[in-house]
Amino acid sequence: MEKIKLINKYAEPFVSENEIMAMAPKAVEAMKTLHSGTGAGNDFLGWVTLPTDYDKEEFARIKKAAEYIKGNCDILIVIGIGGSYLGARAVIEALKSCNYNALAKDTPQIYFIGNTISPSMLTELLKICEGKDICVNVISKSGTTTEPAIAFRVFRDLVNSKYSKEEAAKRIFATTDKAKGTLKSLADEEGYETFVVPDNVGGRYSVLTAVGLLPIAVAGIDIDELMNGAKSAQDSLMSESIADNDCLKYAAIRNVLYNKGKRLECFISYEPCMTMFNEWLKQLFAESEGKDGKGLYPVSCVFSTDLHSVGQFIQESGSDLMFETCIKFNNPLDDFILTEQEGNIDGLNFLAGKTLSYVNEKARQGTLLAHTEGGVANFILESDNIAAANLGYMIYFFEKACAISGYILGVNPFNQPGVESYKKNMFALLGKPGYESEKEKLEKELGIC
Ligand code: PA5
Repeated sequence: MEKIKLINKYAEPFVSENEIMAMAPKAVEAMKTLHSGTGAGNDFLGWVTLPTDYDKEEFARIKKAAEYIKGNCDILIVIGIGGSYLGARAVIEALKSCNYNALAKDTPQIYFIGNTISPSMLTELLKICEGKDICVNVISKSGTTTEPAIAFRVFRDLVNSKYSKEEAAKRIFATTDKAKGTLKSLADEEGYETFVVPDNVGGRYSVLTAVGLLPIAVAGIDIDELMNGAKSAQDSLMSESIADNDCLKYAAIRNVLYNKGKRLECFISYEPCMTMFNEWLKQLFAESEGKDGKGLYPVSCVFSTDLHSVGQFIQESGSDLMFETCIKFNNPLDDFILTEQEGNIDGLNFLAGKTLSYVNEKARQGTLLAHTEGGVANFILESDNIAAANLGYMIYFFEKACAISGYILGVNPFNQPGVESYKKNMFALLGKPGYESEKEKLEKELGIC
């Protein structure tokens, strides 16, 4: 059963049915390439069948480890960067709240670290951990990424200083390659429980592996439901007819707009709890499509908040540059009824008896019309509510749409060669052994030698 519906009727002045149909053969070809595993990056297609083929024994261990963590700590520290943290954080915030740590609950606080090199963030979190019981989930497919490796040094030391060697080993969980890498070796040496980032699943496609599932389960989210939703997407999004497959249609539309000169896709939500989901989407699309001088640059907004900041630009200068994809939930997690106030000083008594979700919906409709009027095409991806199954479906929907879209664009959607450039320079400037010859040259360029 479809859990997301693509509504493109408001964008018809910008992308006609004829234009979509003209792109359809390319989209179908791209989907066939994906299904047959004959395209670029075909050694990274494990996510395609993951909702049915996932490792059931490991899944049971994830649930067990989550129970252990819930019962034995106040704080879970999740260490990872990029695809090794965004998915978990996106799902936890979407399903629990962006204020998760401030909520009254029977699950641990969850803090994400190792996704920056900020000394302030690190020292702040160490202070937060004072006097608290902690567990650590370090997540790194390569096991060598600098940001999480630095954070893991620090938090491993903290765990080792707080607990006996035996107890410390029970509190650290490593999610990494099944056999190789420094993190795997260290985990085996120290006796940490390990979970696997499958060889054939890239970081940004890994949220439905242990990478995302362990922290998500610790937050008290039903990971069976999440996987069921993804499975339902796996089953529903197979049709080669664009009329019956919104994932295929969305991928086609993105490419029609790209070919018409649009360079930016803005993901919109009217729920702040989707802020990190937007961040996950940005990584997914940017790392998958932004290469060889091609690709739509993904940005995001939470409305109505951002209507009071970047809304001005979208309204009056966005038309040539961008289009909007709004993720719309028909029902909020919670609602609030507005009441009448004596004196009607703010003039809002006409809203008495109305729900806040009604007002939010009118803001959405008003914005849709205004931005369309301003020449910015608007698409809606509509779902019933923010529930685990719907989110699982949505994750799979976007992963598949991104892969198809990348193949239509003519890029390898599963590599990210450009990520290496800054690392190379950073290592040289830091004086890492092996980078000596580059150091001097770079320092000269920066004018710091
Ligand atoms: O999508 C990707 O592959 C990247 O964002 C990685 O997830 C990120 O660079 C972290 O890599 P690793 O898990 O090897 O530490």
